[in-house]
Amino acid sequence: MMNRLFVLLSAIALVACHTRKEERVIGLITDSAMVVSAHPLASKVGADIMRKGGNAVDAAIATQFALAVVYPSAGNIGGGGFMILRKNDKTLDALDYREKAPASSHPNMYLGETGEIVSGLSQDGHLACGVPGTIAGLAAAYEKYGTLPWPELIQPAIDLALNGFRLTQKEAAGLNYIQEDLARYNTILPSFLLRDLWKAGDQIVLTDLGHTLERIRDEGANGFYGGKTADDIVAEMRRSNGIITLEDLKNYNAVWRKPIVGEYKEFRVISMSPPSSGGLALIQLLKSVEPYPVKAWGHNTVRTAHLMTEAERRAYADRAFYLGDPDFTPVPVEKLVHDLYLKQRMSDFNPAKATLSQNINEGVLQTEESEQTTHLSVVDPQGNSVSVTTTLNGGYGSRVVVAGSGFLLNNEMDDFSSKPGAPNMYGAVGGEANKIMPNKRMLSSMTPTIVEKEGKLFMILGTPGGTSIITSVFQTILNVVEHTMTMQEAVSAKRFHSQWLPDSVSTEKGAFSAEDSMVLVKMGHAFKLRSGLGRVDAILVLPDGKLEGGADPRGDDTAEGF
Ligand code: GLY
Repeated sequence: MMNRLFVLLSAIALVACHTRKEERVIGLITDSAMVVSAHPLASKVGADIMRKGGNAVDAAIATQFALAVVYPSAGNIGGGGFMILRKNDKTLDALDYREKAPASSHPNMYLGETGEIVSGLSQDGHLACGVPGTIAGLAAAYEKYGTLPWPELIQPAIDLALNGFRLTQKEAAGLNYIQEDLARYNTILPSFLLRDLWKAGDQIVLTDLGHTLERIRDEGANGFYGGKTADDIVAEMRRSNGIITLEDLKNYNAVWRKPIVGEYKEFRVISMSPPSSGGLALIQLLKSVEPYPVKAWGHNTVRTAHLMTEAERRAYADRAFYLGDPDFTPVPVEKLVHDLYLKQRMSDFNPAKATLSQNINEGVLQTEESEQTTHLSVVDPQGNSVSVTTTLNGGYGSRVVVAGSGFLLNNEMDDFSSKPGAPNMYGAVGGEANKIMPNKRMLSSMTPTIVEKEGKLFMILGTPGGTSIITSVFQTILNVVEHTMTMQEAVSAKRFHSQWLPDSVSTEKGAFSAEDSMVLVKMGHAFKLRSGLGRVDAILVLPDGKLEGGADPRGDDTAEGF
């Protein structure tokens, strides 16, 4: 009886506002250059840099600096990220500026005396902070690919911080939401962020942050990892239970890596390799569904959703077992995306019934030998493209503002597995490969991605969303290449997400029709309603060479270009 009631209630909850697709929705179209990011002011900064002759990397750097000011919940200088590049001569590159565990970290640092996780310790406050990587990453990208003078890339962000800017409704709501935490986790109150009620249109000035950006403008990465900024970070740590030292800051390095590349039909998918799980899992998912007629089955139908969910169960089980920082744990990348391995992994796929996640383990490899983040996509007039995802981890990170320097620090330590099998804030579990070790990078799901079609630039995309990043990118690609949506439709379409554990499918309201949701529940899928999944920002190269932007309507995301 309870079971039937659950089936019925789940189905009713899922239906709500499912609508039939009627007219085509097309995003901003430009001739040759575009930035899509989480904030209109940041997209404008990036597009202006290209109007001045800057390339896609210049624009991505300037956009990220601007996001650090106007989008403090995730745009950052106190966090980390990944950048995927595809030059117009088809050469590829990948930059890892993920945060690192401080040198005095240890595997049990978030456990109490009885060995249980101390709630919140890896998520809030000073001990949750990893050593920030963003500035080292932007400086490394500039050194290798930048063309305009470095100060020109930062000055727009400095002007926004020092002259002030107006809050959007969503930003005002975000700041209102964290008022109590700002008071709780800061030893010196960040008065410039505190107010009884922030409203849309309020002017906000970030003076300390503006001066920090001036130091980075004048001294490069040393303006962050040395001098006043570094001293302020360490003093901030010492006033509470933080452990980042001057040595940690001095020793931080961004790393150029080989992007992970996989084929899906006539498409080539280029994405982030470990320490992100994003690219690897994305390629596993695409290859797992490739043999099935997804196009004929249709968008968000029973058969398509069931297939995708079953592929996700398996990919996320592998993620939990095999993935971690490749500098510490060998990650069997080639084996995990091998066609034969994925075929064998899907061999027990039952088209009529959901598998219980408890019956799925990581795959057996051939062993004769082993929410909050933000994304920006850029294409420049020369056809170079950049895909950047950057994060503080949770919205506004650890909620710790570095006193005197005016920026928020991440709570990225929660992306480690604090205890084998214990879920982190995204419900994801992990094991040995992602355990905390000094100077190690925590596993990420960020999936900045570039897709080629028949050798030509086709799509640039990525999203925030913690572990749901991978499945949002997966769905957006399928929406375009299988379900023939425009870029804007693909980004706006309702999403769902599953990740092995917890054994349920998160779904946006209206993702499935009434009938389909009823059938899926009967097949054994348990659903959880989520208010929003991801904020995908994407660019599609149209057959005539023009660009179509897909800016996610779930946020203030905006496409800008020329
Ligand atoms: N902090 C989210 C991620 O890196 O996956």
